[in-house]
Amino acid sequence: MNRIAQVFETLEYGPAPEAPDQALDWLDSHGRAFGHFIGGKWTKPANTFTTDNPATGEILAQISAADAGDVDKAVKAARKALKEWSALSGFERGRYLYAIARALQKHARLFAVLETLDNGKPIRESRDLDIPLAARHFYHHAGWAPLIDTQFPSHVPYGVCGQIIPWNFPLLMLAWKIAPALAAGNTVVLKPAEFTSLTALLFAEICERIGLPKGVVNIVTGAGETGEAMVSHDDIDKIAFTGSTEVGKAIRSVTAGTGKGLSLELGGKSPYVVFEDADIDSAIEGLVDAIWFNQGQVCCAGSRLLVQESIKELFIARLKRRMATLRLGDPMDKAVDIGAMVAPVQVERVRDLMQRGAAEGATIYEPDGEVPSVGCFVKPALVTNVSPANSLVSEEIFGPVLVAMSFRTPEEAVALANNTRYGLAATVWTENVNLALDIAPKLKAGVVWVNGTNNFDAAVGFGGYKESGFGREGGREGMAAYLKPVWMKDLKPAPAEPKRSDRATNPLDAEHLDRTAKMYIGGKQARPDSGYSRPVLGENGAFVGEVGEGNRKDIRNAVEVARKALGWGTTAAHTRAQILYYLAENLDARRTEFAERIKAQTGADGAAEVAATVARVFVCAGWADKYDGAVHSPPMRAIAAAMVEPLGVLGIVAPPELPLLGTLSLVAPAIAMGNPVVVVPSATAPLSVTDLYQVLDTSDVPAGVVNIVTGDPAVLGKVLAEHDGVDGLWAFASQETSTAFEKASIGNLKQTWTSRGLAYDLMDAQRYGAEFWLARATQVKNVWVPYGA
Ligand code: NAI
Repeated sequence: MNRIAQVFETLEYGPAPEAPDQALDWLDSHGRAFGHFIGGKWTKPANTFTTDNPATGEILAQISAADAGDVDKAVKAARKALKEWSALSGFERGRYLYAIARALQKHARLFAVLETLDNGKPIRESRDLDIPLAARHFYHHAGWAPLIDTQFPSHVPYGVCGQIIPWNFPLLMLAWKIAPALAAGNTVVLKPAEFTSLTALLFAEICERIGLPKGVVNIVTGAGETGEAMVSHDDIDKIAFTGSTEVGKAIRSVTAGTGKGLSLELGGKSPYVVFEDADIDSAIEGLVDAIWFNQGQVCCAGSRLLVQESIKELFIARLKRRMATLRLGDPMDKAVDIGAMVAPVQVERVRDLMQRGAAEGATIYEPDGEVPSVGCFVKPALVTNVSPANSLVSEEIFGPVLVAMSFRTPEEAVALANNTRYGLAATVWTENVNLALDIAPKLKAGVVWVNGTNNFDAAVGFGGYKESGFGREGGREGMAAYLKPVWMKDLKPAPAEPKRSDRATNPLDAEHLDRTAKMYIGGKQARPDSGYSRPVLGENGAFVGEVGEGNRKDIRNAVEVARKALGWGTTAAHTRAQILYYLAENLDARRTEFAERIKAQTGADGAAEVAATVARVFVCAGWADKYDGAVHSPPMRAIAAAMVEPLGVLGIVAPPELPLLGTLSLVAPAIAMGNPVVVVPSATAPLSVTDLYQVLDTSDVPAGVVNIVTGDPAVLGKVLAEHDGVDGLWAFASQETSTAFEKASIGNLKQTWTSRGLAYDLMDAQRYGAEFWLARATQVKNVWVPYGA
C-alpha cells in the first residue's frame, strides 16, 4: 500500500555533477589573469585581486582593479565610439544585439558553468534562468533598436552610460543594463561586482568575436572605488546602478545637480501574502522560489511571509516539511536546490543579523542536516515569533532567511505589506481574482506577482517604489530610460532674476479694501505659522501686495493634508479630467483679472500667458484618461498588466518667470495623473498663484489636492526635498539650489526633476510635450497574473 509514495520518501539521489572543464580551460587560456576591456582591447593585468569559488574557496583567477585613470580611458573610448554607433540605423544596431543574443545561446553552458563557479548559485538556476533570460534580453532589445525612431520620436541617446552591477545575477544584470543602452544608441562602461567579474569578461570576448565596434562596450573591473570613479566622472551622461540602498543613496548624492541621468535599482524586503483560500501547496512551492532561489540573494526575494491567521499553523507545518527536503550542497550538482552564498562576508552578515533577531526574541527554525565544512553555505531558515520592530523583519537580510507573520483581514495584510521603507516587489496568493486585483494596486511595489513569484521578462518592466530606487528596466519604460528628448541639449542658461528692492510703502488703495493672500492648505486659507509677511513688488518697485512668509511648519501641515488626499490617485480618471476642464473654464472666465495681476507683478502683458495657461490645463485634462498602461504577454501563461500609478505627493517649486503658466504647467500634469501637490509659488510673483484659491474652490478640486505655501522657494523647496512624506520634487531653481534640493532628497530617495538654472520656454507648449511631465508624475507597476485552468 502506498508503495510509490514510500519510494519517494526514501529515494536517495546520487550526485549529478556538471563538469567544470571547459570553463576552467577558458580561465587557463587567459593565464587565469584578466585586465580590462577598453576600446576593444585588453589591458595587461595590473593591481590585481583574486576571485574565488565560494563553494570551495579555490582561487579561480586574478582580476584587475581599475583606478580613476583606467576609468577615464574607458570613458574616452566610449565617447569616441559614440558618434558612429549612435549614427548607425536602428536596424544595424539591432543586428549586433541579435548576434550577441545568438552567441550567448551558443555558449550558454560555458556561461552557466562559469557563473556557478564564480557565484556559487546552483547550476540548475544559472543554466535554466540566468543565461536564457540574459539572451532573451538581447533578443528583445535587438527588436527595439529599429523601432526607436518611430516609437520614441524626437529622442536621442543619453551618450556614455556608466553601469554598475551587483554580484547576485552577474550576467543577467549586465544584460539588463547593456541591451537597452546599446539598442538606444548609447555606448557603455560597465563595472561588474568585485566578487563576480568572470562572465562579464567572457561577455567582452563575445563582443570582440561578433565584431561589435570598438569602444561601444567597455568593461572595467574593481570594487567600490572603481564605481566611485565612474559616478564622479564628468564625461559620463547617465549612471545606471543596481545594488544596496546605502550605495544607491551615496550615488544620488554625488550625482545631485549634475544633470546626469540616473536609475537606481536597490534593495527590498518584499512581502509574500497568502490568503486563506490560496492553493496552499502551490503557495509553498512559490515560497521556495521566492526566498530560497539564489540563496535568498535576490533584491525582490519574497522574504516576508504574511499568512492569514486561519491557515497559519497548517501553512507553517507544511512549509517546515518542505524545507526539510531542500537539498543544500555543491552548486555544480544539478539536483541541488541551495548552493553557496557569494562570499564569506555575506555569510557573516546573515549570521550576525540572525543573532541580532534571535536576541530580540525571534524563534529560528532550520531543518536538520549537515552543511559542508568548506564553503559559504547557510541553511534555509524560517523566523517566527516576531513583531514588525524586529531587525529581521525590517532589514534586508539578503540570505536564505524567511520571516513569517500573520494577518486577519485584507486591510491588515496591506498595512503590514507596506510597512517597510522598500517597495520593490510583492506576491499575493488567493484563488479569488477579485481579491487579488483589489490588493495589487494597494501594494506599494513596482512588481506584483499574483499566484506566482519571481517571474521576469525583458518585455515587462522591473524596478522599485520608495527606497527600492527609481527607474525601470525592461519593457517600454526601460527602453525610455536610455533616451532623452532632443530639446534637452538645446537648453540655455536662464537669465538672472531681476533684483527688486525689498522696501516699499503700502499706500491705502483708494478704491479697494485691503486684501490678504494667505496660505492654502487642505482647501482652507491659513495664516503663516511665522506671523511674518513678505512684500510683492512690481517692476518699478511699486507695492503690489503681500504674501505670508511660509516656514517648515507650514510645509509640514501642507504635506500632511496632501497625504490625506492620496485617494485622488484612485479617483476615476474621467472625474479628474472633468475637474481640470472645469478649472480651465473658471480660469478662462477670469482672464482679465489674472492678466492684470501678471502685469502688475512682472510688467508683462499677461493676456497671452493666461490664454496659454487655459490651453495647458485643457490639454492635461485631455491626458488624464489617456496616459495609461499596457498589457504585456511574456513567454509563459501569464499576462503582465503595466499599470500607470501616480508617484504620490509631489512638491513643486514654480519658476520665477511666467508665474501662472509656469505653476500650472507643473500642477496640471501632476494632478491629472492623480498626485496631490504642495506648491511653492515664485518669490517675485506669488500673487498669480494665491489668486487661484477661489478658482480651485469653485472648480471642485478636492481639499488637499492642491496646497500652496508662499515664502522663499530655496528654503521651502529644501524642506520639501527633505520631507519623507513627499514622494517627488519638481523645481525650477538655479544650479546651486537645484543641487541642494537633489542632495536633500536622498532620505526617502524621492524622484526629482530640477531645471538647474536652465531656461525653459514655457509659452511654447508643443516644444516639451505634456508626456515629459506625465512620465515624471507617474511610475509603472507591473502586475503578473497567470492564466490556465
Ligand atoms: P554594494 O551596493 O556595495 O555593491 C553593488 C555594486 O556597487 C558593486 O559593483 C560594487 O563594487 C559597487 N559599489 C560599491 N560601493 C560603491 C560606490 N561608493 N560607488 C559606486 N559603486 C559602488 O553591495 P554589497 O556590499 O556587495 O552588498 C551589501 C548588501 O547590499 C547586500 O547584503 C544586500 O543587502 C544589498 N545588495 C542588494 C542588491 C540588489 O540587487 N538590490 C545587490 C547586491 C547587494
